[in-house]
Amino acid sequence: MIPSRCRTRKPDTEALGSPSYRHRKAAARAEGKPKTLLDRRGGNGRKLRNTMRKALLLLPVLTVSAVLAQTPTKNPRDGDAAAIQGGKLRFELTCAECHGIDAKGVFGPDLTTLWLTGTTDDRIFQTVRRGIQGSSMPASRLPDDDVWSVLAYVKTLAPNVPPPKRTGNAENGEKIFAARCGACHQVNGRGGYLGPDRTRIGSSRPPEVLARDIRNASAVIVPGYRSVTLVTSDGRRVRGVVKNEDAFSIQVMDTQNKLQGYLKSSLKEVVAEPKSVMPDFAPAQLPEQDLNDLLQYLGTLRGAAPARG
Ligand code: HEC
Ligand code: HEC
Repeated sequence: MIPSRCRTRKPDTEALGSPSYRHRKAAARAEGKPKTLLDRRGGNGRKLRNTMRKALLLLPVLTVSAVLAQTPTKNPRDGDAAAIQGGKLRFELTCAECHGIDAKGVFGPDLTTLWLTGTTDDRIFQTVRRGIQGSSMPASRLPDDDVWSVLAYVKTLAPNVPPPKRTGNAENGEKIFAARCGACHQVNGRGGYLGPDRTRIGSSRPPEVLARDIRNASAVIVPGYRSVTLVTSDGRRVRGVVKNEDAFSIQVMDTQNKLQGYLKSSLKEVVAEPKSVMPDFAPAQLPEQDLNDLLQYLGTLRGAAPARG
């Protein structure tokens, strides 16, 4: 069955054509009946009609070029010093919290290396315009020209030479992940729930940032993963991640991946833990080569194809 929104709608060109068609018909009718206002005015009326007809014939052409002008393949603000200056400000206000003040990535990916992959300005523009579904990358509400200015600025940060290729072994990295990380992190629907899902981690974090998160998990604690220890009235200690809390109750995901709820009145204490429940993987626990392999594997995790233009 064809869903209703797929039912044949006239393509835009036809829709555009029809008013001018209607107008021509009206004009022809007017010519047959010389008593219309336009014709009584004589030559003037005819001139006016011709101009209108020309304007209407031009309309589709203008509309098509306007559509093209919306997404030029090259950034119209590239190299424009004033626009770049403004773009820098906009970037720092609206993008830096996720992509880093230097655009090299924090919660979002490194943007300075975008152009090395051979992607085009208009594709990047569309990504910013529409956002990426299923990720925190929002659709931008900035006017087109501001988006172009932001991208013109980011391009000035792009390195001239590609970064060195990573040399880790992704296959070994996958094994390390399953053994050391899978208990707490999901990838493609498998694994534990204590930490955030890692299915898309490869496209959302640069490797340097991932390395820091792994070596020193408590350096930055992901919002929504605050860690606590609950002390029950019988003295048991439950370490976990807070999932829900109000004045009277608290819910935590414990380190066994079990969700536990308590009335606060039944607890001796709720201890806020400064450290993440994720252990720090220092070189003694995770040698440099293993970290490299792990990063190589994480780099392959890009989830389902995002809604890109
Ligand atoms: C709330 C966080 C957040 C903000 C604000 C944000 N981004 Fe993003 N952005 C992300 C994340 C996360 C991704 C990666 C999404 C994915 O692929 O899973 C991303 C991806 C992108 C991509 C695609 C990168 C690629 O590898 O294809 C571009 C381009 C981009 N962002 C540009 C911008 C610009 C420009 C701004 C400011 C106007 C901005 N972003 C604001 C989080 C953010
Ligand atoms: C005991 C459970 C646990 C284990 C084991 C664990 N993690 Fe985590 N991880 C967490 C939790 C909880 C967080 C969120 C809190 C935080 O930011 O520290 C987290 C956060 C992270 C982050 C940063 C989150 C982000 O989105 O920026 C990364 C990257 C990460 N883990 C990767 C790994 C890798 C790789 C391993 C294996 C070497 C691993 N984790 C092992 C529980 C765990």
